[in-house]
Amino acid sequence: MTDDSRQLIEAAVAVMENAYARYSNFRVGAALLDSDGTIHSGCNVENSSYGLTNCAERTAVFKAVSIGKTSFLGIAVVCDQEVLPYPCGACRQVLAEFCDAEMPVTVASAKNPDLQERFQLGELLPKSFGME
Ligand code: THU
Repeated sequence: MTDDSRQLIEAAVAVMENAYARYSNFRVGAALLDSDGTIHSGCNVENSSYGLTNCAERTAVFKAVSIGKTSFLGIAVVCDQEVLPYPCGACRQVLAEFCDAEMPVTVASAKNPDLQERFQLGELLPKSFGME
């Protein structure tokens, strides 16, 4: 783990506390490192109309973009259960809109510190859709 990913995991665990996960009880936090050194964080926000749920990763990206930030160097995603919260397909595509294929993606369980993995975004979403 680099210092960056340690710091991102801490921020992701902190924002996970705000997860609105009353239907799944699966709490997720994401922390996105901005190239300016700041961190944008987000949690999952569920809805009684299940399909309207927003994942933690997309919450973090959309918060950042909404304040004019679009350059990112890494992301950590954590959950409160003893599994790894691999980003869903929709979140991978949203990350690919703004992030290089080489960007590190750290996934971790807040419940078991031994459960951690690190990928590059391009490994998680090879041949992503894009329009130039
Ligand atoms: N979820 C995320 O926030 N990020 C992921 O990477 C996977 C799934 C959320 C969506 C939903 O609120 C809950 O986890 C269960 O699917």
